[in-house]
Amino acid sequence: MRKPVIAGNWKMYKLLGEAVETALALKPLVANTNHCEVIIAPVFTALKMVCDRLEGSNIKVAAQDCAAEIKHGAFTGEVCADMIKDVGCSHIIIGHSERREFYGETDRTVNLKTKACLHYGLTAIVCIGEMLPDREVGNAEKVVKIQLLGALDGLTVSDMERIIIAYEPVWAIGTGKTAMPEQAQEMHSSIRQVLTETQGKNIAEAVRILYGGSVKPDNVKDLMNQPDIDGALVGGASLDAQIFAQIINYK
Ligand code: PGA
Repeated sequence: MRKPVIAGNWKMYKLLGEAVETALALKPLVANTNHCEVIIAPVFTALKMVCDRLEGSNIKVAAQDCAAEIKHGAFTGEVCADMIKDVGCSHIIIGHSERREFYGETDRTVNLKTKACLHYGLTAIVCIGEMLPDREVGNAEKVVKIQLLGALDGLTVSDMERIIIAYEPVWAIGTGKTAMPEQAQEMHSSIRQVLTETQGKNIAEAVRILYGGSVKPDNVKDLMNQPDIDGALVGGASLDAQIFAQIINYK
């Protein structure tokens, strides 16, 4: 059985005080939630304090990115995965489409960052997803497969235990256009098929595949009812504790 994961990606929103306030507001709302893992991903500057204030709760904290480098060094502006672990995070979101689109991330950098994350014992939430033109010409599955294989290149069986895949069709992110549950299921099933072919059936059956892109309280249930959708990566609707808690407690 795959335990669902509901993760909130706060992107570049919330000053420190706001991040702590939202995290603390969320805490009691999910205190009795055990049907899924709950993760929030604030900006770097809020990670330490949010981790401290959530200690002992059932909310885990993720960073939104990390350096591709494993060793500390002269890399101005970068944050190494062990520094993220050091402040109390357990997960890192890697290869979000906004990083690919605006900051030049490639399948290769996503692969290196995934390896850096795993090297330090953290769980990687690896994002993949096609752009609208890919889907329009019928290339969506092919594009997603290339991203998936690129991200996972060279990973071992034990590495795969700390991989969560987030399928986020770029045309659905922040647009209010969610993929139809059946449409998402089709892609999730295709992703699991690629995992079966490349990693074996046991791993493919165990890896959680999250859906992301305009997930809201009113569509989460239909998405979660799909057999290969194991959770959600939520952007906009995770910024408000009440709304995010409704998504988390979708059951
Ligand atoms: P959205 O963002 O829920 O606002 O569409 C999802 C994401 O970017 O992870």
